[in-house]
Amino acid sequence: MGYQVTACICYRTNFYNLKLLAKANNLSTVDEVAELTGCSTGCGLCRPYIATMLATGKTEFGLDDELVEAEEPSTLF
Ligand code: FES
Repeated sequence: MGYQVTACICYRTNFYNLKLLAKANNLSTVDEVAELTGCSTGCGLCRPYIATMLATGKTEFGLDDELVEAEEPSTLF
Protein backbone atom coordinates (compact mmCIF):
# COMPACT_ATOMS: atom_id res chain seq x y z
CA MET A 1 0.00 0.00 0.00
CA GLY A 2 1.44 3.35 -1.00
CA TYR A 3 1.09 6.79 0.41
CA GLN A 4 -2.51 7.89 1.01
CA VAL A 5 -3.91 11.41 1.15
CA THR A 6 -6.48 11.42 3.94
CA ALA A 7 -6.66 14.91 5.42
CA CYS A 8 -6.40 18.64 5.18
CA ILE A 9 -3.02 19.08 6.81
CA CYS A 10 -3.29 22.84 7.36
CA TYR A 11 -6.45 22.46 9.44
CA ARG A 12 -5.61 19.00 10.81
CA THR A 13 -8.93 17.54 9.75
CA ASN A 14 -9.26 14.21 8.02
CA PHE A 15 -11.58 13.76 5.08
CA TYR A 16 -13.66 11.16 6.92
CA ASN A 17 -14.58 13.74 9.58
CA LEU A 18 -15.12 16.38 6.88
CA LYS A 19 -17.50 14.01 5.14
CA LEU A 20 -19.49 13.54 8.36
CA LEU A 21 -19.56 17.33 8.92
CA ALA A 22 -20.64 17.93 5.32
CA LYS A 23 -23.46 15.41 5.63
CA ALA A 24 -24.65 16.72 9.00
CA ASN A 25 -24.69 20.29 7.72
CA ASN A 26 -25.95 19.64 4.16
CA LEU A 27 -22.76 21.04 2.62
CA SER A 28 -22.35 20.34 -1.07
CA THR A 29 -19.52 22.62 -2.22
CA VAL A 30 -15.89 23.08 -1.25
CA ASP A 31 -16.62 26.70 -0.36
CA GLU A 32 -19.34 25.63 2.07
CA VAL A 33 -16.92 23.18 3.70
CA ALA A 34 -14.30 25.93 3.82
CA GLU A 35 -16.67 28.39 5.44
CA LEU A 36 -17.50 25.92 8.23
CA THR A 37 -14.05 24.39 8.79
CA GLY A 38 -11.42 26.54 7.11
CA CYS A 39 -10.27 23.49 5.15
CA SER A 40 -8.93 24.44 1.70
CA THR A 41 -8.23 28.04 2.71
CA GLY A 42 -4.63 27.43 3.78
CA CYS A 43 -2.30 26.04 1.14
CA GLY A 44 -5.30 24.87 -0.93
CA LEU A 45 -3.77 21.52 -1.89
CA CYS A 46 -6.70 19.65 -0.33
CA ARG A 47 -9.27 21.48 -2.47
CA PRO A 48 -9.55 18.84 -5.25
CA TYR A 49 -9.61 16.07 -2.64
CA ILE A 50 -12.50 17.73 -0.82
CA ALA A 51 -14.31 18.22 -4.14
CA THR A 52 -13.83 14.53 -4.91
CA MET A 53 -14.96 13.56 -1.42
CA LEU A 54 -18.15 15.57 -1.89
CA ALA A 55 -18.78 14.05 -5.32
CA THR A 56 -17.94 10.42 -4.55
CA GLY A 57 -17.91 9.93 -0.78
CA LYS A 58 -14.32 8.72 -0.95
CA THR A 59 -12.08 9.82 1.96
CA GLU A 60 -8.72 8.20 1.17
CA PHE A 61 -6.81 8.84 -2.02
CA GLY A 62 -3.84 7.24 -3.66
CA LEU A 63 -1.40 9.43 -5.54
CA ASP A 64 -2.68 8.10 -8.88
CA ASP A 65 -6.39 8.52 -8.13
CA GLU A 66 -8.36 10.76 -10.45
CA LEU A 67 -9.76 13.80 -8.72
CA VAL A 68 -12.78 15.93 -9.45
CA GLU A 69 -11.79 19.38 -10.59
CA ALA A 70 -12.58 21.83 -7.78
CA GLU A 71 -14.34 25.03 -8.59
CA GLU A 72 -12.35 28.21 -8.07
CA PRO A 73 -12.52 29.49 -4.49
CA SER A 74 -15.11 32.16 -3.89
CA THR A 75 -13.79 35.60 -3.07
CA LEU A 76 -15.29 35.34 0.42
CA PHE A 77 -12.10 33.82 1.85
S1 FES B 1 -4.06 20.95 3.18
FE1 FES B 1 -6.01 21.88 3.31
S2 FES B 1 -5.58 24.01 3.17
FE2 FES B 1 -3.61 23.08 3.16
